[in-house]
Amino acid sequence: MSVMRKYVIAGNWKMNKNPQEATQLIEAIKPLVKEAACDVVVGVPFVDLTAALEAVKGSKIGVAAQNCHWEKSGAYTGEISADMLTSMGVGYVILGHSERRTYFGDTDVTVQKRVRAALDAGLTVILCVGEYLEQREQGVTGEVVAMQTKIALGSVSQEELSRIIIAYEPVWAIGTGRTATAQQANEVCALIRDTIASLYSWDVADNVVIQYGGSMNAGNAAELLAQPDVDGGLIGGASLTPQDFATIVEAATKAGK
Ligand code: 13P
Repeated sequence: MSVMRKYVIAGNWKMNKNPQEATQLIEAIKPLVKEAACDVVVGVPFVDLTAALEAVKGSKIGVAAQNCHWEKSGAYTGEISADMLTSMGVGYVILGHSERRTYFGDTDVTVQKRVRAALDAGLTVILCVGEYLEQREQGVTGEVVAMQTKIALGSVSQEELSRIIIAYEPVWAIGTGRTATAQQANEVCALIRDTIASLYSWDVADNVVIQYGGSMNAGNAAELLAQPDVDGGLIGGASLTPQDFATIVEAATKAGK
């Protein structure tokens, strides 16, 4: 099987923008990414999904939710199921983000359940993994990231892997302005690919898109995206500024994977 990886540039808006602002932001991004040769996705708050789906019409921009529950329905006040997302026309969901793990009690096990539900509903998953600063300093980055990846993919078949994107996001680089070096990013993305190869095969691992996330911006994107195992970006802060986000998309288009 040949390698068919294509860059995926995804914005994670986190808890920013109301529906009206979401429309404005997407309308501003749309013309700037018209020529993109990579996939472009915006990850918006739940309440913005309707507006975002409407705003992306006529473009190739995909829309992601930022979480979903693992049950199909039931007594889970405040939660949103994967089926609800697909019923609206949402194509992607971000799962296992470190902010969910840190502030809202997500664990490797609940992330695995959410991944299962999302795939069953037909969504493409952007699965986030990454180490805390203390873990990097203790020299266990590889172990942590491999464990998160293995558990999250616990029930994922080889066929379903085509709907999994992995985002390597070192927690110490998120929102801190402290980006991983291109070499650090590539090293861990390669290690994630090794992990996937050990679970499945190199044929499939070579085709999984592995993004880097953590203070990626218009200035550092080209260098990060030039790394052989970095296949895109999951972008927080810079995805809220149309020109910055577009510059990252352009960097991916130029890098031409
Ligand atoms: P920043 O780009 O703001 O560091 O956020 C990264 C992130 O968490 C994307 O999911």
